[in-house]
Amino acid sequence: RKKMILDLDTGIDDAMAIAYALASEEIDLIGIVGSYGNLQMSDGVQNSLDLLTLLGQPNIPVYLGEEHSLTTHSFDTLKISQEIHGMNGIGDITIPKSDQSPHSGSGIDFIIDSAKKFQSDLIVVPTGPLTNLALAIKQAPEIETLIGKVVLMGGALTIPGNVSPVAEANINQDPEAANEVFQSKLTITMVGLDVTLKTLLTKKETQEWRQLNSTSSRAFADIVDFYIEAYASLKTNLDGCALHDPLAVAVAIDPSLVTTLPINMKVDTKSPFSGRTIGDERRLNSNEATTEVAIAVETERFLSVFMTRLSTLFSK
Ligand code: BDR
Ligand code: CA
Repeated sequence: RKKMILDLDTGIDDAMAIAYALASEEIDLIGIVGSYGNLQMSDGVQNSLDLLTLLGQPNIPVYLGEEHSLTTHSFDTLKISQEIHGMNGIGDITIPKSDQSPHSGSGIDFIIDSAKKFQSDLIVVPTGPLTNLALAIKQAPEIETLIGKVVLMGGALTIPGNVSPVAEANINQDPEAANEVFQSKLTITMVGLDVTLKTLLTKKETQEWRQLNSTSSRAFADIVDFYIEAYASLKTNLDGCALHDPLAVAVAIDPSLVTTLPINMKVDTKSPFSGRTIGDERRLNSNEATTEVAIAVETERFLSVFMTRLSTLFSK
């Protein structure tokens, strides 16, 4: 079985990404690395620990990652993140505290050591800013060609961004790190807004979870209802909330869920286009296209697999 590392800023869709990974028998979730974004890194790490315990896997290690981007020395949670994910990142719902602590090692070393150990069997799925991964490849460039693949949630190619007309939130948090990741030799699939905004969950589905009447199903129904209501109040004109982060996990496991284009990407790091993901004109004709950009998704099939997996997990 392939080994998966999740690198996330544990907000609500990140929580669903953890659940999807745990519910997937094709992979072993070997660890989680904490990022900042939807909330402070340390608070996201606590959410990951609590969610793993809620979902019956308290012993999966959770590592601390970077607390801010490569170029800024502090991190201010965006007001918009708090509106979408709640002050605590999980819809202001209280779930039982895990009795586990974060692992004492560094998240960046964990990525590097896992790459050396599992090589092409390793899949890294970042669903927050790309700071941890950028630092890992800076520290150990040899892992770029060792890691099997990176499937990241971030960016937008064919549609506007969600935090600025050109930038998606995860890329916008650390455009320099994202650019370094895209310019590296890593094999990347970009699962951006082009596809994630086509996979929506509604209260019909969360009501199905609530009816399963387990501790985890009720907690997830409450947490995700907050997210659905936030989407409604932001007047996004979307019928439900976007399954950004779980879609990245699903594509990492089953790439046939999306149609991709091979395009070497770059990220603009300067105003007014900071955070824009765009084809790198200098490498467009390079034979070494290492990035596939998802531009279409089998929405119905993904939603059906998503619901089957999470419902089975919540019923355990
Ligand atoms: C991304 O930003 C975060 O708020 C979500 O968790 C997701 O990873 C969507 O742009
Ligand atoms: Ca996220």
